[in-house]
Amino acid sequence: MSELTDCLRSEVPKVFDFPNNLTHPSDPVGWALGMFAANLPQADIQSMEADPGQPAAQLTYFDQNDPASFERFRRRIENGRPVHGSLALIDYCGGYGAVREDADWAWQVYGEQLAEGLARCHPLGSYVRSTLWLSCGEHLYQAHCDLADGFLFHVAGHKRARVWPVPEKYRRKVIFNYSDFEGRMASEPIDFELQPGQVLFIPAGAMHEVVAHGAQPAVSVSFHTGSPFPMLTLCAQLNRMLRGGEVSVPPYMKKTDKFNIYFFEPSRFVGQAKSPDAGMPGELLKELAAVLQSRQVDPPTLQRLLSNWWQLAMTRPVYQGPYPQRG
Ligand SMILES: [Fe+2]
Repeated sequence: MSELTDCLRSEVPKVFDFPNNLTHPSDPVGWALGMFAANLPQADIQSMEADPGQPAAQLTYFDQNDPASFERFRRRIENGRPVHGSLALIDYCGGYGAVREDADWAWQVYGEQLAEGLARCHPLGSYVRSTLWLSCGEHLYQAHCDLADGFLFHVAGHKRARVWPVPEKYRRKVIFNYSDFEGRMASEPIDFELQPGQVLFIPAGAMHEVVAHGAQPAVSVSFHTGSPFPMLTLCAQLNRMLRGGEVSVPPYMKKTDKFNIYFFEPSRFVGQAKSPDAGMPGELLKELAAVLQSRQVDPPTLQRLLSNWWQLAMTRPVYQGPYPQRG
C-alpha cells in the first residue's frame, strides 16, 4: 500500500506532500478552465461569499446550459471574485466507468497512487469518483460530508479546509447513514491551510468546509473512493440468491436520497474473518440479521444466506456503487 492508502483505515484527517513520483499538471489553471469550457453542461458552478458578519451568505448557481455562463465564470476566476466550479473527471466502479477526455493526469494519479491500495482495502470491489475543482476569491463551499473517503490533491492557489473528525459514536455504527450533520460536527474541527503539492485525506462521513483563499485561482482534484454498501443493494442481491424471498429492510431504511441512504461497510470486517470460507464475521452478521425482514425466510435460513453472500462477496466483486440497486 502507498503512504496515501495506508490512512484509509485510520479515520483521521491528515495532510501529505505529493508522493515523490507524482508530477504536477502543467498550467493547472489553464487546464481547468479548458475543461470547464469544453464540458460546461456537465459542470456545477456556484458562487458564495464568505462574510464573517453574515451567517446566511447567498449561494448562486450559474446556468450551465447557458454558454455565457462560462465567460462569467472565467472573468470571475481571472479577477479573483468569489466563484467555484466542479466537474466530474472519473466515474469508475467494479472495472467499468468513464474517464473524461483530457483527464489523463487524474487517471494516472488513480492508477499509480490509489488503485492497488484500494483493491487491498476493498476486496469486494470499490468505486472512485474524481472531480476537478476551480475556485477563488474567498468562495466558501459549505459544510457537508461525503459518502466515501476523499483525497484532495491540491495543485494551485491556496485553500483552507476545516474538517470535523468523525465523532466516536458514528465510527462504531455497523449500519449507518450520513443525515446527522449537526451530530457529526460535535467534534473539534481541524484547519488545514493547503499549499500546492499537498494532499488532504478526509475520511468518509467527516464534515468539512472549504474556502479558496486570495485572488489566485485554486485548483484541486479530488478522489472519493471506497465501498459503502447500500442496505437496499444487499436486499436485492440476497433476493436474487433466493430467487425471490422478499428480504427487506424497515421502511425508515428505504430512503434513497444521498444522505438518508443506509449503508454498511463490509470491507471493515474483512480483517475479522477467520478465512474466506468461515462465513460472515459475527458482529456484522448479528447487526444485519437484526434489521433484515422477510415473511418467507426464517432467521436461521437468513443467517445462512448472509454467510453465503459474504463468501461470494469475498471471492468475486459484487460491489455496484454507493447508490442503491433494486430488484
Ligand atoms: Fe466534500
